[in-house]
Amino acid sequence: MPQAVVIIGVQWGDEGKGKIVDYYASGADMVARFQGGNNAGHTLVVDGKKTILHLIPSGILHPHAKCLIGSGVVVDPDNFLHEVDLLRKAGIQNLEDRIYLSDRCHLIVDYHKHLDAARESKKAGKIGTTKRGIGPAYEDRASRRGLRVADLYNETAFEEKLKENLAEKNFLLQEYYGVEAVSMESFMAKYREIAKKLKPFVRDVSAIIFQAIDDNKKILYEGAQGVLLDVDYGTYPYVTSSQTLPSQAALGLGARVPKDTLFVGVIKAYSTRVGEGPFPTELKDAFGDQLRESGSEYGATTGRPRRCGWLDLVAVKYAIQVSGIKNIAITKADVLSGISELKVCIGYDYQGKRLNTIPADSSILNQVTPIYETLPGWNEDLSKIRNPQDIPKNLQNYLKFIENFTGTHINLVSTGAGREAVIDIQKAF
Ligand code: IMP
Repeated sequence: MPQAVVIIGVQWGDEGKGKIVDYYASGADMVARFQGGNNAGHTLVVDGKKTILHLIPSGILHPHAKCLIGSGVVVDPDNFLHEVDLLRKAGIQNLEDRIYLSDRCHLIVDYHKHLDAARESKKAGKIGTTKRGIGPAYEDRASRRGLRVADLYNETAFEEKLKENLAEKNFLLQEYYGVEAVSMESFMAKYREIAKKLKPFVRDVSAIIFQAIDDNKKILYEGAQGVLLDVDYGTYPYVTSSQTLPSQAALGLGARVPKDTLFVGVIKAYSTRVGEGPFPTELKDAFGDQLRESGSEYGATTGRPRRCGWLDLVAVKYAIQVSGIKNIAITKADVLSGISELKVCIGYDYQGKRLNTIPADSSILNQVTPIYETLPGWNEDLSKIRNPQDIPKNLQNYLKFIENFTGTHINLVSTGAGREAVIDIQKAF
């Protein structure tokens, strides 16, 4: 058994990682987030009760698990405190002893959210972001204008930085985007209060995880978004602003991952995408609508309808190559039950030539025609199947096809939203 598992999405996010993290978290001492922010939406269904988390690691529903938010995560304190409140109301106790927030995390503050929304309201250059301020916060991190959690506890320096930032941000907001400016006084008053409320959660997360690894504790790393949304390796510029690859797990927490760490990539049995950007296998017809309804494909963060399409194995194979994944968890196989023939994309036709990978210029993907292999579907209800031997033959073929095409091994098949709806082919933890 490995000491650690890193879970990442292999498509455009929304693969069902929350459910897989929650499943594996029963065997983990710590669950750690290393990138992204509250643009993520991880849906967990335990005993029929649905919980959607955006920032706090999905392990929080397992009372023994400590939940870490590493420095690679951008943190909106409004959202953090709101989730803490929801969890408290749901009867989850001792949150201050279970949630550790890195003092090096960059804060998403009000002007980041206003800038994100203002940019998205312009027609040209729209990315279809979640408008949570993710991009502007990561921009400030890179340009060294960011406010970090630790800055909240040095009021003079905080005020100084804020003054400089507001001069620039308010100019942009008012003069360029024509929206309201942010007031220095109300900002300071708000963040003084936030500093007090966050304090019990703030820790040196890098030191904590370093020690835990040394003590042989089991760590589960929880990725957000997916490889095709990675800022470098995704379908740029229609991506998020963080690194979503498993190698980010070490950087985003400030400690090496254990030697025997297993990387598990989560793939949905078909494809979905929210926001703008190329999507070669998208189904813009009644069948796409049917997939959306049967798979409840509406964004957990924004409620937007997800674009739906056939499984794109060219995209998946590329994502596996750049991320170094060898093991797969596949979700929502149950949604495909009852469809007589299933298509999977095994290449793209681009101006008469075959493309077998995702090009750097992702606009090319708007001009390709997918080359499909057709596989027979299955009719069986998967919800009660727990034993790998009971997987219907045509689903077994579908899984084998994915394994052979991508050079991976499928460890787990998820067959429904509930925690128990899992066929665990090869136990990870
Ligand atoms: P941002 O991360 O809010 O800046 O959005 C950039 C792109 O990533 C948009 O297309 C979003 O819809 C997409 N995105 C961000 N987070 C998620 C996620 O958790 N699941 C799916 N798509 C996401």
